[in-house]
Amino acid sequence: MQNEFVETRQSEFDQLKEYIDTVKNSQGILMQTLQKAQELFGYLPLEVQKFISKETNIPLADIYGVVTFYTQFSIEPKGKHTIGVCLGTACYVKGSQAVLDKLSEELKVSVGSTTEDNMFTLEATRCLGCCGLAPVMMVDDDVYGKLDPKKVPEIIEKYKN
Ligand code: FES
Repeated sequence: MQNEFVETRQSEFDQLKEYIDTVKNSQGILMQTLQKAQELFGYLPLEVQKFISKETNIPLADIYGVVTFYTQFSIEPKGKHTIGVCLGTACYVKGSQAVLDKLSEELKVSVGSTTEDNMFTLEATRCLGCCGLAPVMMVDDDVYGKLDPKKVPEIIEKYKN
């Protein structure tokens, strides 16, 4: 019996199969296929990894290894907004951990997870390349610098609607 995920996402699986057929003989097929799959599904659950394994003959263990190694891939569904708090050295010494803790408390979600209403995914990131603004976080493509945990509720409020 097919599981519910496969049934409800059949059209994405069909598109992914078509894509794999077009890149089958090219180099770097796994990365290209995973990027396409993440674009189609929004994340890469085991069912999608198994499908890719079957269609490409790449062992599932290898696929899982790549998916979990690269932060661009996610095995869990992401929320509507992704919040990334920088825990790079410059931000860390300026208190980014307290910002992250405040977000976790406000959103009632642990780092690396998504809120129950699927609105926010909270992540810790490496240096975002704007250390002069430390401590820094990003909400989707927006950068917030010189943060203070007290500013957190006001910032997340903007994304709630
Ligand atoms: S360490 Fe945070 S932006 Fe560089």
